[in-house]
Amino acid sequence: MIKKNVFSAIQPTGNLTIGHYIGVLSNWFKMQYKYNCFFCIADLHSLTNLNYIKDLKNNIFDILSIILSIGIDPQKCTIFLQSSVSEHMKLYWFLNCYTYIGELNRMIQFKEKKKMYKKINCGLMNYPVLMCSDILLYKSDYVPIGYDQIQHLELTKNIAKRINNFYSFDIFNLPKYILHKNKFKIMSLLDPFKKMSKSDLNINNIIFLLDNINSIKEKINNAVTDSDNPPRIFFDLKNKPGISNLLNIVSSIKNISIKELQKKFINFTYKDFKKFIINEIIFLIKNIQNKYFFFRKREFLLKKILLNGYFKAKKYAKKNINDIYNYTNLNII
Ligand code: TRP
Repeated sequence: MIKKNVFSAIQPTGNLTIGHYIGVLSNWFKMQYKYNCFFCIADLHSLTNLNYIKDLKNNIFDILSIILSIGIDPQKCTIFLQSSVSEHMKLYWFLNCYTYIGELNRMIQFKEKKKMYKKINCGLMNYPVLMCSDILLYKSDYVPIGYDQIQHLELTKNIAKRINNFYSFDIFNLPKYILHKNKFKIMSLLDPFKKMSKSDLNINNIIFLLDNINSIKEKINNAVTDSDNPPRIFFDLKNKPGISNLLNIVSSIKNISIKELQKKFINFTYKDFKKFIINEIIFLIKNIQNKYFFFRKREFLLKKILLNGYFKAKKYAKKNINDIYNYTNLNII
């Protein structure tokens, strides 16, 4: 049976958190067995934020080492660097010409970023078109995303449909998105009404995948719970956001439903509950870190893996861009 194509990408922005693991990378791990997966390190996307450019090379090696440490296997899937496959750029221009400025202005992420910066570069506005190009270039059937990317996927489908209609031919596959199973965002440890974000100035809000083990213990011990007496461990985002966040984290990393966990914790004190959480998180993170340091020291190996990924992705991308150019009368010589 022919496997369906999956495309997903992550930006090499450094300092990955447990949220990245739960929201993106643990899903990549599972999907590699079932689909023909293209997993891309989106270095071109990260250019839209000038803060990330200084450390781009280190960030790429860091993120690749983490991807490999999680068990995402370059033999099973295609792991590659976005900028190495120039076809992304070729398709990007073409798609731009079928995208309206009004559409891009309506993107929620763009609207939010506009508020944060004084000067807005055009890359920031066109960022979703580059995403469309990534997705459509590999005839992707499925794109795993979080809630914050739904609008970008809808845009991709609209642009693809628009072009197919214009040429009266199905040049592009219409991709479907797969929403991550865990519906709940990973929240800050000290302020569980706020999303955990790697750019938070208070690092005690965040569990980084490369945090040292003792500081993880400390951070979770300090995480906000509530003052229910007797302690009650159940999921209630509104009234028990701290406990709910911790429940969600273990549920995601252990693949156990929240319902089942609630049963397990019926007579637990908050202290024992946290002890359990700490053990589970440390088990996961130690495992990732042991392998991480092995890979990270071997830049030669990392480059080789990206080179292999490049060959695999390029073959696909080149064939598809040739087809697209043929259908649209580009490069007629
Ligand atoms: N913009 C995505 C993010 O920051 C990363 C990304 C780039 C992506 N291209 C993509 C995700 C294509 C899905 C499909 O998370």
